[in-house]
Amino acid sequence: MKPRTFYLALSLFLNLIFSHSMAQQTMTNVYGRNVQSLNGKWDAIIDLYDQGRKNKIFLNKKPETKIDFYEYSFDNGLRLNVPSDWNSQMPELKYYEGTIWYARHFDAAKEVDNRSFLYFGAVSYRCRIYLNGKEIGRHEGGFTPFQIEVTDAIKEKDNFLAVEVNNTRQVDAIPAMAFDWWNYGGITRDVFLVSTPKVFIEDYFIQLDKTKADKINASVELSEKVSQSVTIEIPELQLKQTVRTDANGEAKTSFASKKIKRWSPGSPTLYKVKVSSKSDRVEEQIGFRNVWVKGEDIYLNDEPVFLKSISFHEEIPQRKSRAFSEADAVMLLSEAKALGCNMIRLAHYPQNEYTVRLAEKMGFLLWEEIPIWQGIDFKNESTKEKAGKMMREMIMRDKNRVALTFWGVANETQPSAPRNAFIKSLIDITKSIDTTRLITAAFDLVRFNKDKQVFVMDDPFIKALDVVAINKYLGWYHPWPVTPDKATWDVAKGQPLIISEFGGEALYGKTGDADVASSWSEDYQATLYRKNLEMFKHIPNLRGTSPWVLFDFRSPFRFHPTNQEDWNRKGLVSDQGYRKKAWYLMKEYYDSK
Ligand code: GCU
Repeated sequence: MKPRTFYLALSLFLNLIFSHSMAQQTMTNVYGRNVQSLNGKWDAIIDLYDQGRKNKIFLNKKPETKIDFYEYSFDNGLRLNVPSDWNSQMPELKYYEGTIWYARHFDAAKEVDNRSFLYFGAVSYRCRIYLNGKEIGRHEGGFTPFQIEVTDAIKEKDNFLAVEVNNTRQVDAIPAMAFDWWNYGGITRDVFLVSTPKVFIEDYFIQLDKTKADKINASVELSEKVSQSVTIEIPELQLKQTVRTDANGEAKTSFASKKIKRWSPGSPTLYKVKVSSKSDRVEEQIGFRNVWVKGEDIYLNDEPVFLKSISFHEEIPQRKSRAFSEADAVMLLSEAKALGCNMIRLAHYPQNEYTVRLAEKMGFLLWEEIPIWQGIDFKNESTKEKAGKMMREMIMRDKNRVALTFWGVANETQPSAPRNAFIKSLIDITKSIDTTRLITAAFDLVRFNKDKQVFVMDDPFIKALDVVAINKYLGWYHPWPVTPDKATWDVAKGQPLIISEFGGEALYGKTGDADVASSWSEDYQATLYRKNLEMFKHIPNLRGTSPWVLFDFRSPFRFHPTNQEDWNRKGLVSDQGYRKKAWYLMKEYYDSK
């Protein structure tokens, strides 16, 4: 092997080992831990030409002699809110794609013998973390949490934390080069310093058995491979067991109870669950429900259910920024509740934990997905690995959330052997962690067969799914091939089918032209909804609908100068928070279900 190739291979190998070994899978239920928030105003440097790393600005050097010379400082310059995207914080950053450095000082009250971890709820899209002048970790993926142990790197006083964030789109990224939402960059979710005992409860998975209503399965894993006794308690059910972890620090058990009140959208019952070990204790609210598919029906707690769903992006349109707080979650979910929904499809990426936990309290079933959105590099092994890591990070974070019912593994992918292998690997990873939830994916492959006068779809891959989801924009991207009352479907027979996207755009306040597709009028959008709702009556295995989309949202490829202006206007609610005429049609339809 030529020397150059050897060194290239070596650096790649070291890079792989070094970078992946540092940003770890997060411990379960960070919000129930002993955390110090690092949210607030951080110093920032815009590094458009990527000069910061090579000039080691993460060392935060200050001139100490007359000849010292540094052409940077983090002090007294640009400051950005954390969490938030950077795009919404300065007009010049609206479209920014590139690197921005964030930095801050902090003290760490260190309890003797405790361990310390830096936790990031999400950083979009890739980042490198530097603490006290040393790189300590990297992460790729804009929508899942990660942590880095800093026990040995942290000081009592004046730690200097620098985060190099880059949101440049890349062919091998997830999502890739073009996607119908804003490419927000930044430290977009909470940042905590987490303190734990030396041996702590790293992970637990506590949920109702897949098919039994009176059996709760529990597994616990300690941070170290030690055998210790661990207690799991659900006080309201008078359940308490102490088990001993094995040499790997793991323990499994189950509880029997005839008194479990199963969670449902109409009765979102949650129980306090306490997990404790010799030196650690964590607790949170966990719900219990059964969900399975039988034939063309989806059963929730032994009853067939119709999914009255809606999608929203993780964005507050009035603020033109990412949603990231509990208050943001209240705004988005209250509007979904008002619409009469019992489910949310969290498009198109894992959204923040406030939204997931509040949805659970308010009574929404959830569909969560990673952004396998149209043009993904399915032939690229490293892209497949990245997707698997993102899937794992999403499922490991939310596996105890009873609201989570569907894991979405793709959105609008085209049939091919590489795509099938790629998505199959995601399904395998999903099932290796969680065997109880339903696996679904959204397709835009339904076509009208003129000979048979019926809508059909030809993608054998759907057999790998529990529930088949279809995105179809009749009356918007495609004219109606038949009148809606004659629009019969023969798609995914024998499996439950949901319409995961339908609709069209309207500029709030624009009226008239109820039959003009390019009018962008509320009346046309209403006509389109009426026709879709009529068509839904002719889909025999339809078990749910999810209009696209709750709120108008921002997208750089929505070019129309007066109707769009960088906004996708398919919202049932305008970017200013006003309900369009179609909202009331959807409300009436869901109330009738
Ligand atoms: C696609 C896609 C959405 C997109 C929508 C649209 O189906 O899944 O992310 O925003 O159509 O075109 O508005």
